[in-house]
Amino acid sequence: MLASPLNRRREEFPTLASGIHLLSHSLGPMPRLTRESMLEYCEAWEQHTNEDAWANAWWELSRRVGDRIAQLVGGPPGSIQIQPNASIALASVASCFEFSTAQRNKVVTSALDFPSMEYIWEGQRVLGARIEIVGSPDGITVPLDKILDAIDETTALVAMSHVSFRSSYRINARAIVERAHEVGALVLLDIYQSAGAMQLDAQAWGVDFLIGGTIKWLCGGPACGYLYVRPDLQKSLRPRLTGWVAHDAPFEFAAAPMRYAKSIRRFAQGTPSIPALYSALPGLRIISEVGIETIAAESQRRTQMMIDFALERDWRVNTPQAVNDRGGSVMIGVGDGPAMVERLAEQKVFVDCRPGVGLRISPHFFNTDEEVIEAMTILEELL
Ligand SMILES: Cc1ncc(COP(=O)(O)O)c(C=O)c1O
Repeated sequence: MLASPLNRRREEFPTLASGIHLLSHSLGPMPRLTRESMLEYCEAWEQHTNEDAWANAWWELSRRVGDRIAQLVGGPPGSIQIQPNASIALASVASCFEFSTAQRNKVVTSALDFPSMEYIWEGQRVLGARIEIVGSPDGITVPLDKILDAIDETTALVAMSHVSFRSSYRINARAIVERAHEVGALVLLDIYQSAGAMQLDAQAWGVDFLIGGTIKWLCGGPACGYLYVRPDLQKSLRPRLTGWVAHDAPFEFAAAPMRYAKSIRRFAQGTPSIPALYSALPGLRIISEVGIETIAAESQRRTQMMIDFALERDWRVNTPQAVNDRGGSVMIGVGDGPAMVERLAEQKVFVDCRPGVGLRISPHFFNTDEEVIEAMTILEELL
């Protein structure tokens, strides 16, 4: 069935006129209203004569954008602090731990995480952290029992991708949080590849931290990362990666020692990227209006459609086939990934590739079924 009653709001994404955009795992298309939003930012900046831009709008903007994202990931208002990017959000969490003095000094990660994860934890080894990377025997999944086995009484934190950027493998968040909390460990999930593509329930999972950013499935601009911290955990943490905006009374410009804000703002650092906040608002609004439930259902249906198409032709699918084990992308093994990306782009099909898994193809709510099938058919011709 090709017809669907869903309003895909395609006219709100001028980029879609240039071809079949299947890159929401990387950089989503810019919403038309983002241009206006950025102009609003320019006007506010151009017209300001003192610090009124901060007082009138900018100071509260981080909080506003954070609350919008919180709504989309199942967090309450006041649970998300905007960050420069997901890597800094992770480094902020890392800076809350004191590995050298604690019995709990293990951090459990996975082999399918985004490289920042490994780089940042690697840097914590000199501070006493022990890093255990749970392997991926097939390069596509990380066995749940191996993750659960790695979590013990010495574990301070389990930190891994909710959905892998490499294979679109989705871990079982509930089971991991349950096991970690049983032994007194905390859990951080990198939801960059799942927020905006599927239903997330931060509160019901009881997860302690979430990190991500807006440029992919959330249709926002770059440099708008975010950090969720479980509300009842917030006040017990004192991130050493900090700055004046995280102070309880930032405009007192007080001398040290640091007095952390009693809100999620304690996880801020310095001046926020105001343009990034303006760039994120229109996309977040669209995602809310279309609705995560609708988007998730479409994503499951179309990724299944693509997997079926590929398997019928004996292609190598490097994404889990079970619907609850996968995210919004389908990875298809091809001989020379970069060359195939180029050939597809020549035919106006926009995808990318990653080493070991091949093409990464991601339909979002704005893609039509016809586009998805056309992209797969063009790929078939090229193969
Ligand atoms: C799962 C995941 N985490 C983190 C990142 C990087 O985020 P940032 O550049 O905001 O640090 C990406 C970017 O592709 C990603 O896919």
